[in-house]
Amino acid sequence: RMVKESTDLTTLEHQLKSRLGLNQIKIVPGDADSSPETKQLLGKEAAIIFHEQIKDQSIVDVTGGSTMAMVANYMKPLEKKRPLFIPARGGLGDLHEYQANSICVKMAQETNGDYRLLHVPDEMGPDLKEKMLEQPGVKEIVSLMEQADVLIHGVGDALAMANRRKANEATKEKLKSSKAVGEAFGYYFDKNGNVIDRVDTIGISAELVKNIPSLITVAGGSSKKEAVAAFLRWIPSGWLIIDEAVARYLIEQL
Ligand code: BG6
Repeated sequence: RMVKESTDLTTLEHQLKSRLGLNQIKIVPGDADSSPETKQLLGKEAAIIFHEQIKDQSIVDVTGGSTMAMVANYMKPLEKKRPLFIPARGGLGDLHEYQANSICVKMAQETNGDYRLLHVPDEMGPDLKEKMLEQPGVKEIVSLMEQADVLIHGVGDALAMANRRKANEATKEKLKSSKAVGEAFGYYFDKNGNVIDRVDTIGISAELVKNIPSLITVAGGSSKKEAVAAFLRWIPSGWLIIDEAVARYLIEQL
């Protein structure tokens, strides 16, 4: 049965890879919402792909989230290639252990790499944002962020993320009325991959994401299936690590 299941997932990988035009896809068995093992496998497989993608002195943009925290767990010490980890956006609204800053520290520790931090809040408003962008420290991080050759990130359900970040009512209303289903690196999008809103903080732009050489997307769990499908309609490229629950939905939808 195990053998049959794994051939089945390999077939699914081939089908999705060619249908979506991805560089590579890995599907792990199960549903990460209900199985801690599946979530661990996502982390493990994503770490393998990360290690294949980085070069000497790679600059790696990283988002937050429990999935990225799991990926960090499986990263391995590197001898010479000292990657530099940069948070893909500010945003101190999320739980501490899920913040991009915290994940960067963890990934740097695991790989013998370096990190920089970005201490700016969520929802800053244009005036504060402009002022922050003038700060030399912030400027430096933004410039490094823009030079990244790898971005590794999670995807979330739109409202789950808005709640986790304690977004205000107006934002939540906007997300509901415009039928946002997914969120990634601070952008909220609908099921067709149209951007609805963006967390008002300093962070990587979609234009930059689309040009990044190694875009690594990691997400699992049936509660995220619509979010992942929508994300792939928006940005269908790169390296994708998902679980079976998401994969079976994608093959029906995309
Ligand atoms: C957040 C990222 O921290 O984690 C989001 O900024 C992402 O872009 C989210 O959608 C995913 O969280 P989790 O816990 O489901 O991996």
